[in-house]
Amino acid sequence: MSAPVGILEVAAMRRWSSAARAAGKPVGLVPTMGALHEGHLSLMRRARAENGVAVASIFVNPTQFGPGEDLEKYPRRLEEDLALCGQAGIDAVFVPAADEIYPKDFALFVDPGPVAQPLEGASRPGHFRGVATVVAKLFNIVLPDRAYFGQKDAQQVAVIKHLVRDLNFGVEIVVGPTVREPDGLAMSSRNAYLNPGERQAALCLFRALGIARDLAAGGERQATQVAAAMAEEVIQEPLADLDYAAVVDPETFEDMESLDRPALALLAVRIGNTRLIDNLILEPAGNRRGKRG
Ligand code: PAJ
Repeated sequence: MSAPVGILEVAAMRRWSSAARAAGKPVGLVPTMGALHEGHLSLMRRARAENGVAVASIFVNPTQFGPGEDLEKYPRRLEEDLALCGQAGIDAVFVPAADEIYPKDFALFVDPGPVAQPLEGASRPGHFRGVATVVAKLFNIVLPDRAYFGQKDAQQVAVIKHLVRDLNFGVEIVVGPTVREPDGLAMSSRNAYLNPGERQAALCLFRALGIARDLAAGGERQATQVAAAMAEEVIQEPLADLDYAAVVDPETFEDMESLDRPALALLAVRIGNTRLIDNLILEPAGNRRGKRG
């Protein structure tokens, strides 16, 4: 597998992408902030398989970090990341400098609307405005036919689907499943912050989601009961500090009352100084039988 071409400038990225399209090759894009792991790489391999060429971007986007968040200490491992992109079959890696994406007089942002309000939006004000803005810019620069995102960041997926629909981007959004460590912890660049005790404590998220799944499959219909059971499991863990446990409609992110259709169970938990999120689609037992019969 040949090494991917590294592209630093917007104009050069545009030229590369236009040339691929002119050659009749559909372009797949995988936006990332680097510190790559198997979650990212699974999306890259899929982008490679489903398109004529595959582009990855590596950009630690300052506008999606709030004051006091981990922008400065976010792991940066460019050389290792470029090698991993190559192994995953990526043809071009877009690695712009911050002032290439946000020139000095940059002033216009994308306001992502109601789906960005609750949960992550409430805990991290401005986060999805930064995400929607940078993803809109990446779509305009790369003009991909398909763009790949992970279910791990479920609310981000909902925000981006709304972005594409409401601003008429001509890109198909493809969502890949959450990739987990063997013990269930969802892979995340932020897992690198955890010390061994915290790493063990972080398993409470996966345990709590398992409890939610079992309750739903066993016939529990009250979403508040399921959310409370998840919260209870996290609270048992001494090193964990619960931010939220919720059960919402997977499209609108509005709270659900009755689990009479598939729902999304979500958690945000602080372990020491590290904030982790995870989620799982809940299939109510009766719903599944109904579909089959
Ligand atoms: P980042 O956290 O680097 O994630 C890049 C992509 O990888 C996202 O679509 C994310 O959902 C996906 N991903 C992360 N962990 C995953 C896992 N365990 N399994 C499957 N997919 C996983 O998300 C961002 O960057 C940024 O917000 C970005 C979209 C690049 C905009 O700046």
